[in-house]
Amino acid sequence: MFYLRLVLVFAGIVALVLIGRAVLIPKSWGEYGYYRGGYIQEEASRDLVYGTNKSCEKCHEEIYELKAEGTHKRLSCEICHGPVTVHVKDGKKIGDMPVRKGDKQIELCLTCHAKVAGRPEKFPMIEHIKHLEELDVKLTHTCDQCHTVHEPLENMNIIKKMHELRTLKEEVSQ
Ligand code: HEC
Ligand code: HEC
Ligand code: HEC
Ligand code: HEC
Repeated sequence: MFYLRLVLVFAGIVALVLIGRAVLIPKSWGEYGYYRGGYIQEEASRDLVYGTNKSCEKCHEEIYELKAEGTHKRLSCEICHGPVTVHVKDGKKIGDMPVRKGDKQIELCLTCHAKVAGRPEKFPMIEHIKHLEELDVKLTHTCDQCHTVHEPLENMNIIKKMHELRTLKEEVSQ
């Protein structure tokens, strides 16, 4: 009698597991491997959000070319401006892209360029306040007052000359 009950309980558990599996496991499970096969199609049919730099070229040729030849050439436009899909649809502008000015811009640039221990030493990093102090400018300066954002080294010779001239003038007047 005891054994029969045990067998019944056991059979009940097995039945529950089998029904549970049949109900809960998706049909395409294991089709290609240890995951849901339908997932591949679902992902592939999702709308694209990012368009790559090429998608800006037609309408912003000048910036595209300036950037492509400069020190920011490996950056994606969309890393700073967000996805193209909020900006363009069917070849027409449908919305604005964020353009960062003031503190927002400083924050953006420092995301990548702030001196952080552990970043590769060769990567160009600055200490925000120190950088401005070394150049003798007001600490309210935004990065684009000297660096062209799309090619940050574009006018550096002029900026450096201006700095030299100022230092020279100060020395003369002393
Ligand atoms: C490193 C970040 C960064 C990248 C990468 C970047 N931008 Fe910008 N962009 C900015 C910032 C910051 C501003 C606003 C400040 C300014 O104009 O000085 C701006 C302004 C703009 C403007 C409006 C003002 C203008 O100059 O006409 C356009 C259009 C633009 N970007 C397009 C692009 C395109 C196209 C690319 C890629 C080829 C790109 N950006 C890549 C940061 C970036
Ligand atoms: C179909 C044309 C078209 C494409 C493609 C396009 N833009 Fe624009 N964009 C415009 C127009 C038109 C303006 C407004 C006038 C101007 O600034 O030249 C503009 C303005 C901007 C501005 C200034 C802020 C604003 O929204 O007015 C930024 C930043 C910008 N675009 C970035 C980009 C980036 C980055 C890409 C690629 C990922 C891109 N655009 C692709 C047409 C386009
Ligand atoms: C997403 C990361 C990222 C952001 C945001 C970014 N940069 Fe850069 N920047 C880079 C990379 C990558 C390089 C190329 C470094 C290299 O050559 O190894 C670079 C190069 C530079 C250089 C040249 C340094 C040198 O001596 O070669 C300057 C200057 C610079 N960026 C300024 C800026 C400014 C100003 C902003 C804000 C408008 C900005 N960056 C935003 C990643 C970024
Ligand atoms: C007053 C002008 C000025 C301002 C404002 C300015 N910079 Fe610079 N920056 C320079 C000059 C000049 C250099 C030296 C370029 C060179 O060596 O050719 C430089 C160099 C750099 C470098 C390269 C450092 C290295 O060691 O390779 C980075 C990164 C940089 N700046 C980022 C920024 C960021 C981010 C901001 C905004 C927070 C900013 N700069 C604001 C003038 C300026």
